[in-house]
Amino acid sequence: MEQSLKNLEQEALKAIKNCATVEALREVELEYFGRKDGKLTNVMRSLKDLPAADKPKMGTLANTVKIALEKALAAKFQTFENAKLEKELSNDFFDTTIPGKARYVGHIHPVTQVQEEVERIFSQMGFAVMDGPEIESEYYNFEGLNIPADHPARDMQDTFFIQEKNDTKHGRMVLRTHTSPVQIRTMEKYGAPLRIIVPGRVFRYEATDASHDSTFNQVEGLLIDKNISLSHLKGVMAEFLTRLFGKPVKVRFRPGYFPFVEPGVELDFSCLLCGGKGCRVCKQSGWVEFMGAGMVHENVLKAGGIDSKKYQGWAFGFGLTRLVMMRYGIDDIRLLTGGELRFLKQF
Ligand code: DAH
Repeated sequence: MEQSLKNLEQEALKAIKNCATVEALREVELEYFGRKDGKLTNVMRSLKDLPAADKPKMGTLANTVKIALEKALAAKFQTFENAKLEKELSNDFFDTTIPGKARYVGHIHPVTQVQEEVERIFSQMGFAVMDGPEIESEYYNFEGLNIPADHPARDMQDTFFIQEKNDTKHGRMVLRTHTSPVQIRTMEKYGAPLRIIVPGRVFRYEATDASHDSTFNQVEGLLIDKNISLSHLKGVMAEFLTRLFGKPVKVRFRPGYFPFVEPGVELDFSCLLCGGKGCRVCKQSGWVEFMGAGMVHENVLKAGGIDSKKYQGWAFGFGLTRLVMMRYGIDDIRLLTGGELRFLKQF
């Protein structure tokens, strides 16, 4: 039996090697491994009838032969498979130099990009970043900030009233016209001392044009501590703008009026384009108007529950949207809320 097994192996290997087609190879596979009458199958089956003494040796040999044939079969099948693939590839011209299909990847809106930069710089200077509601009560938006209902200052910021909700304690609900209400909310919540900025979206009832939109973004600032003066504000803003623009920036104050500060100021910074000499951008003045600010009004500190005998501070508010427009030379504010991708993709 040993000899006939060896003969069978040689014979089968030769048959496998000589196959010219897959079909022929399948037939050889059947001839030896067929369940019913395969030559090797029959040998394996007959093992059980051998004398017990011969079983282990013959069993091992039969198994070795089986494994060798299976390997040879698999290898031969693979050569047919490879040949088929190669043929397919050479038939169909496939240009491997064609660029793949690009997927459009979204990115952060330019206003948010600048906002994140502003947050980073003020955080480095020890300011916390606060948030507040966009739908605000009349109290936080106006009265608490020293703008009584019958005061002409209300006309400076016409707003949208929300009819459905009426907070009886705090008046009608409005879309906030500025980020300043968060000053009071933060004072109420955390008390003094405080060092915060509040970036946020604000709304005005405006006729829309290239420089006015009903929705835009501001950044509020508030610092409350002992022995605070406007010179601290000057230092902080000069440092902030210098870090933001990456070159030395000077700031100056002019008198300004805002009901929630006393005294109030307007802050300008030295024109970056002409370095202060005077150009089209700064209207020949050498200075660019940047923001409103001032020492926090006593009534506002009181509304926030802070003892104005012990603490004082300053506040400021600037237009983030305007800052983005200045930075990138955007001449129409509406582009920033229009959702036009051809515009946004540039940033
Ligand atoms: N809230 C003002 C506005 O929207 C800006 C402003 C001015 C904010 C002076 C302040 C400030 O905190 O002190 O026009």
